[in-house]
Amino acid sequence: TEVKPYANEPFTNFALEENKQALQAAIAKVKSELGRNYPLTIGGNKIETEAKITSINPGNIDEVVGSVSKADQQLAEQAMQAALATFETWKKVPARERAEYLFQAAKLMRERKHEFSALMMVESGKNYVEADVDTAEAIDFLEFYAREAIRLSKVDQTLPLTKIPGEDNKVTYIPLGVGVIIPPWNFPLAICVGMTAAAVVSGNTVLLKPASTTPVIAHKFMALMEEVGLPAGVINFIPGSGAEVGDYLTTHPKTRFISFTGSKEVGLRINKLAADTVPGQIWIKRVIAEMGGKDGIVVDETADLEAAAAAIVASAFGFQGQKCSAGSRAIIVESVYDQVAERVVELTKLLQVGPQEENFAAGPVIDKTSYERILNYIEVGKQEGTLLVGGDKAEGNGYYIQPTVFGDVSGKARIMQEEIFGPVLALAKAKDWQEAIAMYNDTEFGLTGSYFSTDEARIAEALETVHCGNLYINRKCTGALVGVHPFGGFNMSGTDSKAGGYDYLLLFTQAKLTSRKM
Ligand code: NAD
Ligand code: ALA
Repeated sequence: TEVKPYANEPFTNFALEENKQALQAAIAKVKSELGRNYPLTIGGNKIETEAKITSINPGNIDEVVGSVSKADQQLAEQAMQAALATFETWKKVPARERAEYLFQAAKLMRERKHEFSALMMVESGKNYVEADVDTAEAIDFLEFYAREAIRLSKVDQTLPLTKIPGEDNKVTYIPLGVGVIIPPWNFPLAICVGMTAAAVVSGNTVLLKPASTTPVIAHKFMALMEEVGLPAGVINFIPGSGAEVGDYLTTHPKTRFISFTGSKEVGLRINKLAADTVPGQIWIKRVIAEMGGKDGIVVDETADLEAAAAAIVASAFGFQGQKCSAGSRAIIVESVYDQVAERVVELTKLLQVGPQEENFAAGPVIDKTSYERILNYIEVGKQEGTLLVGGDKAEGNGYYIQPTVFGDVSGKARIMQEEIFGPVLALAKAKDWQEAIAMYNDTEFGLTGSYFSTDEARIAEALETVHCGNLYINRKCTGALVGVHPFGGFNMSGTDSKAGGYDYLLLFTQAKLTSRKM
């Protein structure tokens, strides 16, 4: 069958009553299924363990979303053996056939999108739009990487090698082996699906260790792949402690690659451990590590200031600032600073805090550790700048924090340099646009950034000098779309793998040249 050209999954319009009701019905369904047990899956076998990871609703911490069995090193080893054995058959399955599993999964996910979104809302604290966008991105990754695997399998037809007489030469992209997939909790469906699907459709088998705060939605994805008939052992589902299972698999001699998305600290640890060779290991492990950000928006005096203020607020506070792309700092040229800051404060005050299931603009943050870390950063901010709005926890039986803005923060302040990963925004003043860009670039990270200006010459210069993987002009710095904005960052933001782009599957393959004398 012919494959249609790729197109992004449309977002749901919740202004329409029927869509709102469909999502609310899905939330009710999720609520009726809370507290269940979910097994590991190793080589197609369901395994229940005594030890469990308990997933709770961050917006209502008495509510248990589910209990997920927990792998230890012994089970991780079993999963490795299952993945190794399955690799021998899976690597021979044609790309078109492998892609078909992703197409089927995308189709079912599209039909049941509100179910996926509803579960994500309850487990991760996303409101309607944030959850819907996450599910749409998951569908996009399935559709996009399926097509990419097909394209890569035919690359010799589209990019033929230089011909010489008497030889038939070909390049094929073959899979690597067994990979460990370690996603974060903040796009608990999209990133988990994208990282796993890319590895698997390229012909690898994987050990999927989901984030410990969002294992139930990861299990729902696992169940979907089983439903579409993905052969047993291609994805092995092993929730577990990052330190225990993660380190064990990172240092395992049979691990061929590790695909990680998460914090800088853990990413650097994986990179370091993976660099050591251990007895029995016959390759250099490949590490794909997408890490944190200290993303920001630069506004000059020629900019549309209303649009800039709206973008600053949307980038800072969408999903409570818990996006790697979150714009947690804004650098504004002095002459318009007061005007922009005032408008940012007004818009931030409109963000009401409350339960995600009731679709409040500002829901809870993910867990107690995050909650305490963010509140601690707010205290740091009070020393480093002027508190303009927020500055405290908020009411509710969950991890609620007021959207918080600090003004007049210096470029070197901790809240301008460190990733907070919560609803905290720092505003800084620059004397002119060049200084503003220099302040933006004064960071160890380099994931997303925006420049607001109407001056073409400055924009041209900003396009070259603002140093980040995803640079946007006159728009917010969140909301990258698969296939439209390949995503990944520079410096300590990671290996710039460009998820959702045409280079991504190369990371999960190796090129083999065959040359035959004619
Ligand atoms: P995290 O680093 O705490 O955890 C990420 C994953 O690593 C989890 O599955 C965790 O269980 C696992 N882990 C922990 N210790 C481990 C170890 N020693 N070995 C192997 N795995 C281990 O990050 P998080 O809190 O889940 O996610 C938030 C972070 O992710 C932020 O820094 C954010 O910027 C970043 N992020 C980056 C991108 C990107 O594309 N660059 C996208 C989303 C999130
Ligand atoms: N795709 C997400 C964003 O750009 C990470 O916000």
